Amino acid sequence: MGRVVVLRMGHRFFRDSRVTTHVCLTARALGADGVIIADREDKTVESTIREVARRFGGDFSIESGNPWRKTIRDWSDEGGKVVHLTAYGLRLPDVIQEINKTDRDILVVVGSEKMPGEVFKLADWNVSVTNQPMSEVAALAVFLDWKLQHHAFDKAFPNGQVEIIPSSDQKRVQRID
Ligand SMILES: C[S@@+](CC[C@H](N)C(=O)[O-])C[C@H]1O[C@@H](n2cnc3c(N)ncnc32)[C@H](O)[C@@H]1O
Repeated sequence: MGRVVVLRMGHRFFRDSRVTTHVCLTARALGADGVIIADREDKTVESTIREVARRFGGDFSIESGNPWRKTIRDWSDEGGKVVHLTAYGLRLPDVIQEINKTDRDILVVVGSEKMPGEVFKLADWNVSVTNQPMSEVAALAVFLDWKLQHHAFDKAFPNGQVEIIPSSDQKRVQRID
């Protein structure tokens, strides 16, 4: 399977930092390989996510400030495919088989406010997670769960400093030496 990277568009510094951080954490936990925050540099979000990845392991890339149009065009020019998550797109259950057939890298585009109409044209698939408006974090979570065919629990996060031990009645965290 190719890489899955999320392009977070419309990030407004400070105002959106918490939601953008949640986009990144969700992407990482549910098996994506990285996030690109378009157009605005946000070193605070970058360092928060790098610190999580350092503590909990795995390879996860985070960058910010890349222009959205060039990022999407370069991705396509290099042979990757583009999925735009939008309430106006085709229903996820109707397109997931086609998406899962590709072995190309996939860029998953999520917005914050109104998206430029051009994104709909640049995407290979405009995909809806229900045709009701919702949070980009929730839409991304559901898409990744379907894309990775419910295998997020099987993903390894090597080279971390700590590991959470699942427990029925307490918080257990183990140091990895
Ligand atoms: C809070 S919504 C804002 C949408 C904005 N009002 C618009 O009309 O474009 C932010 C992002 O969540 C994602 N999103 C929201 N609802 C969705 C849905 N039902 N399916 C897929 N993605 C969705 C889209 O990526 C969208 O850009």
